[in-house]
Amino acid sequence: QDSLYKEKNRPQFHFTTRRGWINDPNGLLFYAGEYHLFYQHNPYESEWENMHWGHAVSKDLVHWTELPDALYPDKLGTMFSGSAVIDYNNTAGYNQGKTPAMVAAYTAAGPDRQVQCIAYSLDKGRTFTKYEANPIIDSKEKWNSPDTRDPKVFWYKPGKHWVMVLNERDGHSIYTSNDLKDWKYESHVTGFWECPELFELPIDGNAKNTKWVMYGASGTYMLGSFDGKVFKPEAGKYVYTTGPIYAAQTITDMPDGRRVQIGWGQITHPNMPFKGMMQLPTELTLRSTKEGPRLFSRPVKETEQLFTSVQKETNLTAERANQLLAKYSEADGLRLKATIKLSHATTAGLNLFGQRIVDYDLNYNKLNGMFYSPNDPTSMEISADIYIDKTSMEVFIDGGAYSYYLPRKVEDGNKEGFHFWGNNIEVADLEILSVQSIWNK
Ligand code: FRU
Repeated sequence: QDSLYKEKNRPQFHFTTRRGWINDPNGLLFYAGEYHLFYQHNPYESEWENMHWGHAVSKDLVHWTELPDALYPDKLGTMFSGSAVIDYNNTAGYNQGKTPAMVAAYTAAGPDRQVQCIAYSLDKGRTFTKYEANPIIDSKEKWNSPDTRDPKVFWYKPGKHWVMVLNERDGHSIYTSNDLKDWKYESHVTGFWECPELFELPIDGNAKNTKWVMYGASGTYMLGSFDGKVFKPEAGKYVYTTGPIYAAQTITDMPDGRRVQIGWGQITHPNMPFKGMMQLPTELTLRSTKEGPRLFSRPVKETEQLFTSVQKETNLTAERANQLLAKYSEADGLRLKATIKLSHATTAGLNLFGQRIVDYDLNYNKLNGMFYSPNDPTSMEISADIYIDKTSMEVFIDGGAYSYYLPRKVEDGNKEGFHFWGNNIEVADLEILSVQSIWNK
């Protein structure tokens, strides 16, 4: 046990699997004191193939215990992405006494078609029994497309029925059901690809003023309304996160009503027997901005336990900030909170380990090539909360208004260190936090 998870290039505070390849998170769910993280797993090699559902559980969203794989390939195909629910009302008839069934909805990917299936568990997701009449949906012919996959199921309270969002060809379809077995097609929204999500969020925390958010695998989303059968988008698509993050999903039945997301970090770890990692869990909120309500994403408060403040300074020149950071350039993990003052600068930013990770151009209002205007245009400040792990860097700008992910190269020994740059920039504040590995407990 002791030597597990202690390899040189193992991320310190992101979930990775002991062995093999991982991609999308699946079946994210809170039940009976445990968070469940199922995920696309190839247990045999560190490349994408032989998809199983891997499984890990956590009591705090931060420290994970890896369990045996939960779903294995069968005659319908390999186990592609999907979701899980607890059937509190026994709609599918699988509950036993007081124990409600956990029901997983997943895609079985065969050689010529992708079909939707369910399986249930009465032992907290440790073992699953597949429904004998699978598949529950087979829609290849209807869409004349092999791309029908990734069912995300949730309970629609006002209508007292189940909803499934499913990727079909060029977008997300909505299906409804009373028993998780018979599904009725209702509607379709084009313009999304893989791993659908649909959920309701209050604007600025006001439960009386909500919008529904629909997203796909790539970090773009639409806001709109939903009546249990049809999602009506209100405007075009927005971007809330970019980088090698993909196929995020949110946790069903969060105990406190937060909307928490985990995404797949498409990160490789040189010379390691595993590939891929999970993004830090982030809380999604809708907040008013100059341009209307937008999705914000920032690491959940549970992650705070990993970080200890070691230094905090204000009003620094870029040179002074760089001096302070120099001694951390070989850290395995680190968190930096910085506010960069742009008042006299047209371009400004921060290089970490030879990569330009914050790159702001005031003339064009562009941050890392994307249109972005700072929250408060009069102060012209940009704040960045930066989580540096062994093989990745996650950056949350202005409280999560925009976030992105970058791989961190480990091969060069991080010789290039840290480097604030720009003409006449000032570092309004800088906090350096040390990181505790999640594998030491
Ligand atoms: C997204 C995806 C899903 C699919 C899974 C297969 O990364 O392509 O659409 O279910 O990966 O591993």
